[in-house]
Amino acid sequence: MAANWKMNKTTKETEGFINGFLPLVKDVQDVEIVIAPPFTSLPVAAKLLGESNIKLAGQNVFYEESGAYTGEISPLMLKDVECSYVIIGHSERRQYFGETDETVNRKIRAAISAGLAVIFCIGETLEQRESGNTFNILKRQITEGLRGITANGLVLAYEPVWAIGTGKTASPEQAQEAHRFIRSELGNLYGDTAGTIRILYGGSVKPDNVSSLMSKEDVDGALVGGASLKPDSFAGIVKYI
Ligand code: PGA
Repeated sequence: MAANWKMNKTTKETEGFINGFLPLVKDVQDVEIVIAPPFTSLPVAAKLLGESNIKLAGQNVFYEESGAYTGEISPLMLKDVECSYVIIGHSERRQYFGETDETVNRKIRAAISAGLAVIFCIGETLEQRESGNTFNILKRQITEGLRGITANGLVLAYEPVWAIGTGKTASPEQAQEAHRFIRSELGNLYGDTAGTIRILYGGSVKPDNVSSLMSKEDVDGALVGGASLKPDSFAGIVKYI
């Protein structure tokens, strides 16, 4: 279960969240928990999470190791502040920051070769869904995004753009249909290993809809935005059963 805080929380607010959240999930053992705060909160989050088994993720990364790239953060810098994951290709990055299948692919390559696990986001817009292009889009994003990349350290997140931050969740059946398709595409790339790659669902996941999504065979977890900003709400998702 992964929390994507997006551009939310100062260091003080991060501290408040973690102090509230840790006791709520202290007995959770069989769910991998990941939090992706803004870059500025990573050091304080790393310090407070300490020995807990909650992992940290960056929300984005650049594909070069260092150099004259004002405003960018390298895979090594994420590792330096204890990140084990990075989210790559989120639809907001594609929509507002010009990210393309090609840059996403370069970022995934760089992250994986630096030893970060990647949460690779894909998903169709409402227009693409309504024109019957969902599977074409997913196929293109997977093929281009994962070109030359091995399955090691890879997690996918299916996030239909029309469900992000809108309160409109995909139905469990819609999620399963897309996840099954994604798994079969992964099968074309990686053979049997595709069965072991986790595919998260993202888009208006809440404590009260997570169980029905998780009951579907190919839904292995969730990438949560809005509902991950409060300790009790994200803990409710982590402890969904
Ligand atoms: P949401 O965001 O849960 O607020 O819809 C999910 C995401 O964008 O990862």
